[in-house]
Amino acid sequence: MRTNFFFGVMLILLVGCKENKKENTIERNMEQGYYSEQYRPQFHFSPGANWMNDPNGLVYHDGVYHLFYQYYPEDTVWGPMHWGHAVSKDLVHWEHKPIALYPDGHGLIFSGSAVVDKHNTSGFATNGETPLVAIFTYHDMDGEKAGRTDFQTQGIAYSLDNGETWTKYEGNPVIGNEGIKDFRDPKVFWHEASQKWILTLVAGDHAQFYTSPNLKDWALLGEFGQGQGAHGGVWECPDLFPLTVEGSDETKWVLIISINPGAPNGGSGTQYFVGNFDGKTFTTEQTEPKWLDYGTDNYAGVTYNNIPNGDRIFIGWMSNWDYARDTPTEKWRSSMTVPRKLALKKIGSDYFLTNFPIDGIDGLASSGLSKAWEVGPKETTSRTIEGLNQSMVQLRTASKDFSATFQNALGETLVLTMDSENNQFLVDRRKSGKVDFQKGFGNKIHWAPTEMLEGETFDMKILLDRSSVEIFINGGLLVMTEQIFPNEPFNTLTVENRDSKSSLTIDSVKKMESVW
Ligand code: FRU
Repeated sequence: MRTNFFFGVMLILLVGCKENKKENTIERNMEQGYYSEQYRPQFHFSPGANWMNDPNGLVYHDGVYHLFYQYYPEDTVWGPMHWGHAVSKDLVHWEHKPIALYPDGHGLIFSGSAVVDKHNTSGFATNGETPLVAIFTYHDMDGEKAGRTDFQTQGIAYSLDNGETWTKYEGNPVIGNEGIKDFRDPKVFWHEASQKWILTLVAGDHAQFYTSPNLKDWALLGEFGQGQGAHGGVWECPDLFPLTVEGSDETKWVLIISINPGAPNGGSGTQYFVGNFDGKTFTTEQTEPKWLDYGTDNYAGVTYNNIPNGDRIFIGWMSNWDYARDTPTEKWRSSMTVPRKLALKKIGSDYFLTNFPIDGIDGLASSGLSKAWEVGPKETTSRTIEGLNQSMVQLRTASKDFSATFQNALGETLVLTMDSENNQFLVDRRKSGKVDFQKGFGNKIHWAPTEMLEGETFDMKILLDRSSVEIFINGGLLVMTEQIFPNEPFNTLTVENRDSKSSLTIDSVKKMESVW
């Protein structure tokens, strides 16, 4: 009896174990399969499959952050554009949604924005709902092929169920084209002072501002930009918003303009202007171009509408038109930057736009991968740190001259150099792994000026994901974002401090949790 009982219990335990093991294996397989391809970003947004470029329609409504994006669902290279869609409750973890907008008879769906029409100015709501309205560019391929210049127009679509389903407006397009070849990327916001909607779009080498009472009828107000700022390429993806200058009650308006080509390190980049908006047009006293990010991989970025606490949060496309189509990923192509909070700083009489990861990103930095350590004057130290390829590194120093090198077992390196004696910060990805898929990717060291980094010390936050690095210096006064494709994960950090007086402290190296 007893023996039978014993065997019975053993059998149950064994079967149970096996079942458990089976379940665990299934779970593990799912974990391993999902978002675990080589180079798949672990804490950045990327589409499950196929091609993505610009973020679109960034809007918060009813507990949900929406992220729409330029999407071609049939291939890993650019093609007829749709609006892909994802949602998040914290801007960190994302849930994929069905495609929101498909091309139609007016054309492909290029970049644009979305607003919450709280007062139902559009009249789209008939049962007390709050409409979300998307405003985007229609790109008529046939018109372009036929050599016409009026093939880009602006259209709108609305959703009465917080972005789940969308209906195009039957009166599209809402802004026609009188013969401007590059006429696109409308960004709309509600302007309290005039109690109207304001739309900014780009028209070749300048921006135009429109007003509307209802999102359907638009009138041109003013223009900005000819002869101002950088003009090495066509202007794209504008964004206009007010910000309070830190530590004061002064409000300035910021105009973000993406430009391709013509960025400081080649290809695509994002410049900004700080000035005033009088309800009709934007003006600035700024004479020199200013860049939101000196790295090569932050393009077409725009900010969220309707964030409850008034924060201004920015997401950019982490790529560059010079080589976006050629990067060595197979299933999907491209990802977004981490969401960044924008702020305005006044230094002397000059205004600077800073961008810095939102707190939620810090929340992913869990366990420490290494203890803090100090590198004395003229010292070099090296640490092997497993997991470095998905980490947040924070350091601070009064050293004026140092470098941090990320390296793998194959000897591939990513070298960050502070050379403030010569007023420059450098990112060298020339030997960072796969670089020769396109000649513009690994052909030179990337540079940023350091003059704006006033003060005696530097603090640096470095976010390293499987195929990117984002470097934020002094709270985001100087930022560089770059893609990298090492053949093996980086697992060694070497810090060389060339300064003869000051030491450097690596405060922490923390593992970043995967959000997928
Ligand atoms: C910017 C851009 C936009 C355009 C979209 C097309 O990267 O060229 O100007 O609307 O991409 O996908």
